[in-house]
Amino acid sequence: MKDLNLKTLKFDRHLDSHLDSFFIEKNGLLEFNPNFITPEFLTTWTFETHLYGEQVAIDHFVITFPSRSELENYAASFRPFGAKIVEGPDLFPINFCAANINVPSDLWLHLMTLLMPAGGLVVLDAPHAVGDQKNRFQQERGLTAVHHVALRVENVQNAGKIWQDKNFKPLSERPLNYGSLTQWFVQNPAGQIIELIERHPGNNATFDCKNIAGLRLSEGRMKKEKTSKI
Ligand SMILES: [Fe+2]
Repeated sequence: MKDLNLKTLKFDRHLDSHLDSFFIEKNGLLEFNPNFITPEFLTTWTFETHLYGEQVAIDHFVITFPSRSELENYAASFRPFGAKIVEGPDLFPINFCAANINVPSDLWLHLMTLLMPAGGLVVLDAPHAVGDQKNRFQQERGLTAVHHVALRVENVQNAGKIWQDKNFKPLSERPLNYGSLTQWFVQNPAGQIIELIERHPGNNATFDCKNIAGLRLSEGRMKKEKTSKI
C-alpha cells in the first residue's frame, strides 16, 4: 500500500452550484449522475459537494463495474488526464493485505484506485465471482449506485455526531482506528453507507486492511440481520 501526500481538502467558497448534482439522492440512497464520471470531469473536479444538506469534501467514492476488464478499460481512459494509479488493479484482500486478514471469499473483489489532481480518490471495483456480494449489490442497485462515499473530515468523532443527527447509524460501536487511518462507517435507514475518514499526519494510505475488513464484515453482518428479519 502506498503512502500518499494527501492534503485536507479545503472548501472553495465559490462552489459552482452545478457541481452539486454529482450525486443524486433517491429515497435516501445515492446514485451517480452518469454524465459526471468522465475523466474530463473527474480530473478537474474539486471533490466538494453537498450531501444530505451538508457541505462535504469527498475523500473517495466507489464506481462499480461488472468485470475487471471493464474496470481496467475505464481506468485506461484516464491516462491522458493526469490521474495516477495508486492501488491495483488487484484482488482484495489477498493481493493487498497480509495473509492473516480474515475476509470470506464472498466479500472479495477486484480493486483499483485512481488519484485525481485535486487530491480526491476514485475507487473502482468489480465482482470476483458470479453471485458474490458485489455481484448481488449490482443486481439489486444497478451500476450507477454508490456503494459508499467517504468524506474527509478533521475529526471523526465530531463528524460522527453530525451524521448521527441526520439518522445515520454507526456500523461499529466506535471508529475503526488501526493507526494509519481513522474511519467510521455510518448507514441511514435506506441502507446508504457513508464513510467518515480522518487522515493522520504523515500517514495517508488510501485504506487500512484491517479497517476495510471491518467494513466488509459489518456489511455482511447487517445483510444477515436484514435477511433473518424477512
Ligand atoms: Fe472507503
